[in-house]
Amino acid sequence: MTDEGPEKEAPASPHASRLTPNGTGDPVDGVLAAFREEAGRGVSSRSEFERLKGKYVGREKGLVPALFAGIRNLPSQERGAFGSRANAAKAEIEESIARLAAEVELREIEARRQAQAVDVTLPGRRPVAGGFHPVTIVRRRIEQIFLRMGYSIADGPELENDRHNFEMLNFPPDHPARDSQDTFFVDRKAKSPLLLRTHTSPVQIRELSRRGAPLRVIAPGRVYRNESVDATHAAVFNQVEALVVERGISMADLKGTFEEFFTAFFGRETKVRFIPTFFPFVEPGADVAAHCPFCAGKGCPKCKHSGWLELAGSGAVHPNVLKACGVDPEEYTGFAFGMGLDRVALLLYEFPDLRLLLDGDERFLSQFTNEA
Ligand code: FA5
Repeated sequence: MTDEGPEKEAPASPHASRLTPNGTGDPVDGVLAAFREEAGRGVSSRSEFERLKGKYVGREKGLVPALFAGIRNLPSQERGAFGSRANAAKAEIEESIARLAAEVELREIEARRQAQAVDVTLPGRRPVAGGFHPVTIVRRRIEQIFLRMGYSIADGPELENDRHNFEMLNFPPDHPARDSQDTFFVDRKAKSPLLLRTHTSPVQIRELSRRGAPLRVIAPGRVYRNESVDATHAAVFNQVEALVVERGISMADLKGTFEEFFTAFFGRETKVRFIPTFFPFVEPGADVAAHCPFCAGKGCPKCKHSGWLELAGSGAVHPNVLKACGVDPEEYTGFAFGMGLDRVALLLYEFPDLRLLLDGDERFLSQFTNEA
């Protein structure tokens, strides 16, 4: 098919001279031959395919459109034959390009499939599991023990008023006992000044006023004091309050409850000692010390060789508190205690400084991730 059209009338394609060396061959045959050779080599990537497609059928500079553009330069009697040959070439090239496109697509799908393939024989990747904060672990363990003993769990506001935090707990205004709980006031001008609660004891008042006697409740939560911070004192710490108000409750019940609790908590029999002390809302009042669980009371550095660890304040509920909550002290008596959760955590896990609980240092906290 090289006898079609005189040389001088060949279409003016930008590629024409390359396809018809010396400007002699037939442009349709030249384009077709060049395409067949290139397409026959195949394409190894999408970019190679796009380049080939652009070179032959690209709208702007493609060789096939150039063939058609050249028709107008041919003598009119040759145009028909040239056009139909150009059309046949175009059809072949387009069909071939469509086939190549499908091949490239298939190859890409296969590559994606292989990249996403899951090797089911590989061991699974374990997700990094977070864990509870040690104080939360301690709180939950304490809650479980008291739930078993028939207590319910109560909550109260951390932003308290003076009435619940002090007054109804039998702290008269300006009483020196208030000095033992150096307070962060939020609004002194309020009718009952607003403050950050200094202990969990106001929850006693709220629960007893709301639910009346008989009552058996614990109230864990965060408390705030303007303390100078050291290894055993924080300004933000946690307590758990317990309150029992029933007929015939005495200090013996308080002592028995503590012994039961410590034995369950530390997993071994633990004796309890009361040291008389003063809190306005109990009478009598006592600081509670547990027989040191680390040395069974023999004396060790943890208990400063005394054999005892102080963990809570406690006592028999003061009749004034019962009265303030609408409970008849002639009919009901009760006991209450407030225990420091951070101190208990420190004892349980044997770390040296309460401040570690507040630092958020992952090296410390990640040691507790497996605890429930
Ligand atoms: C009270 O807060 C009383 N409300 C406890 C109470 C409740 C007495 C019911 C009677 C009846 P105290 O200030 O002693 O008491 O604190 C109780 C416990 O909280 C302490 O034994 C200690 O374990 C912990 N605690 C006190 N101050 C701090 C502090 N700054 N940092 C960490 N723990 C503390």
